[in-house]
Amino acid sequence: MKGILLHGGHGTRLRPLTHTGPKQLLPIANKPMSEYCIESMKDAGVTEIAIIIGGIGSNKVREYYGDGEKFDVKITYVKQDEPLGISHAINLCRSFIGDEKFLVFLGDNIIQKNIYNFANEFLNSNDDASILLCEVDNPSRFGIADMHEGKITKIMEKPKDPPTNFAVTGIYFLTPKIFDIIDNLKPSWRNELEITDALQILLSENNISYHIITDYWKDTGTPEDIINANRAILENKTSYFYGEKSDSVSLTGIVLIGKGTKILGNSQITGPVIVGENCILDNVCIGPNCSIGNNSQITNSNIQNSIVMSDCIINTPIKIRNSIISSNSEIEFKNDSQDEKIFLLGEGTKILL
Ligand code: TTP
Repeated sequence: MKGILLHGGHGTRLRPLTHTGPKQLLPIANKPMSEYCIESMKDAGVTEIAIIIGGIGSNKVREYYGDGEKFDVKITYVKQDEPLGISHAINLCRSFIGDEKFLVFLGDNIIQKNIYNFANEFLNSNDDASILLCEVDNPSRFGIADMHEGKITKIMEKPKDPPTNFAVTGIYFLTPKIFDIIDNLKPSWRNELEITDALQILLSENNISYHIITDYWKDTGTPEDIINANRAILENKTSYFYGEKSDSVSLTGIVLIGKGTKILGNSQITGPVIVGENCILDNVCIGPNCSIGNNSQITNSNIQNSIVMSDCIINTPIKIRNSIISSNSEIEFKNDSQDEKIFLLGEGTKILL
């Protein structure tokens, strides 16, 4: 089966993190979020993927995924000049898809369930689409499906008065019928060709089946979503230790330490925590729920529930909580305040406290 991975978009809710690159490359447990999508697509039996790119840093996507050989899939790139909606992006892949059934995955959707059985069922069915639904607490933030007697009756985008709390996740099994529908679609109030509008039209004449996923699903549009996804992914990992540590270091819970990393002094690492390669951690309290990227140096600091990307330098007694700190950032202590702070730092930020 072929697949489409959406890697464009505005990423406004994640600024300033998205000023230097697409949100889908932001790391969760030290791996770009869209790499989890590619793994899920492969699990579903997808062997050829068109990646939609557009906007800031789309060259970084090509650099990372290349022709897909390293990821064991064949990748081609389709440029979307402007983020005119999910349906618009899908329609750009018409010739890539041809007349086969296909899978669309939004590059900021993370699921833990293996969807191979759903894919197989769809391929052997007469359904024109199959979607995955997940119960959410705040349904007016999502595309929502209404159901009656086991059938979807309506699909609507961010309803003010949601009839159910079943969100339409960003994982869609489709047939080429969708292309003709998108051709006739009108842009919404936000000037986008909406996937929910296309599905609603498809629904009026055809059958859309669905599955409800009860395992973890996250649409990682906000910093809080990313930190939550980080925790969920880390909690399912198995510990490893490829670094070095001094005797007084304590490691508890799920802890993953990469090659060449040194943990020194009286450091306490409380899992789930992942630390990349060639880091130096000296007299630190890290965790729970932290990811530290490669080559970062953290000294005399206390970090919890946060993501620190690669090549960062941090040395501060101010507690860092619920934060995302991009690559090449520096936070250095220069005065006596011992507060707690939240940071959302874009690439290359330098802060003297
Ligand atoms: P959204 O999260 O709905 O939108 P966005 O990425 O523009 O972010 P924000 O709302 O914070 O500005 O997009 C869902 C997914 O689809 C995401 O992975 C980006 C992708 N996308 C495209 O590839 N092209 C598009 O035209 C749009 C709107 C989204």
